[in-house]
Amino acid sequence: MDIVRTVAEMRSHVSMWRREGLSVALVPTMGSLHAGHLSLMKVGKERSDRVIATIFVNPLQFAPNEDFETYPRREDSDIQKLVEEDIDLLFAPDVNEMYRPDATTTINVGGLTDCLCALSRPGFFDGVATVVTKLLLQALPDIAIFGEKDYQQLLVIKRLATDLDIPVEIIGAPTIREEDGLALSSRNVYLDTKSRSIAPSMYNILNQYASDISNGNDIKKSLQLAKQNMQKSGFEKIEYLDLRSSQTLQACNDIKKPSRLFAAAWLGSTRLIDNLAIT
Ligand code: PAF
Repeated sequence: MDIVRTVAEMRSHVSMWRREGLSVALVPTMGSLHAGHLSLMKVGKERSDRVIATIFVNPLQFAPNEDFETYPRREDSDIQKLVEEDIDLLFAPDVNEMYRPDATTTINVGGLTDCLCALSRPGFFDGVATVVTKLLLQALPDIAIFGEKDYQQLLVIKRLATDLDIPVEIIGAPTIREEDGLALSSRNVYLDTKSRSIAPSMYNILNQYASDISNGNDIKKSLQLAKQNMQKSGFEKIEYLDLRSSQTLQACNDIKKPSRLFAAAWLGSTRLIDNLAIT
């Protein structure tokens, strides 16, 4: 695997592949790779001739009170995992390579960013949209792959690619879970033993809530019950537990339309999110 730190070097790899008629997949990450990220790499491998992984802890998507400084950084073990996955290229720029000191452009995706995670993380989606737009334009891949674990982020990225006519197919890949149901996340390392034992109940409660409403139970009443269950199981602060349209994220009272359950809640100083499609 080649490792490059500049946009020019990444572009020269892509140009070479294009001259050979090869297709290219891009898998953007912030590193500290786990099986969830590796599943995205596998989709890239299946669907393209060449795969570029990117590792960049993007300062623009962290609020001043968030964990930018302490976000887990493990480049050596990440490289080992990417080599094992037979990834062709790692793009791991530093902040100065990604953001000129005099840069004044940010990307703001409307509509999808006035609910759910956007309410407690102001600026987060602008930061994600800006860095992902840059990565897509830097690499100009055929496809780019993102996890459904961050479902709102996935919709934001699909929207910006469509709205900005970026010639790329954005692919969502299913959430990968621990055996007990906890969705994999680089931030799970923050959970202490007690919080780790409570954490999987978020997914269990989402499943219970999903089966209640699929069986025709009242949506509002089931939601109340699910919230109470989350509190009882030890979640300290529930940010949201909501049924929303899978396409627009608008509040939804009808499971005949494609809909999804979304949850965000805190265990100590760790914020967990998850989501589940209603089938
Ligand atoms: O999901 C992530 O890891 C990040 O938000 C992303 C998409 C790599 C942008 O920094």
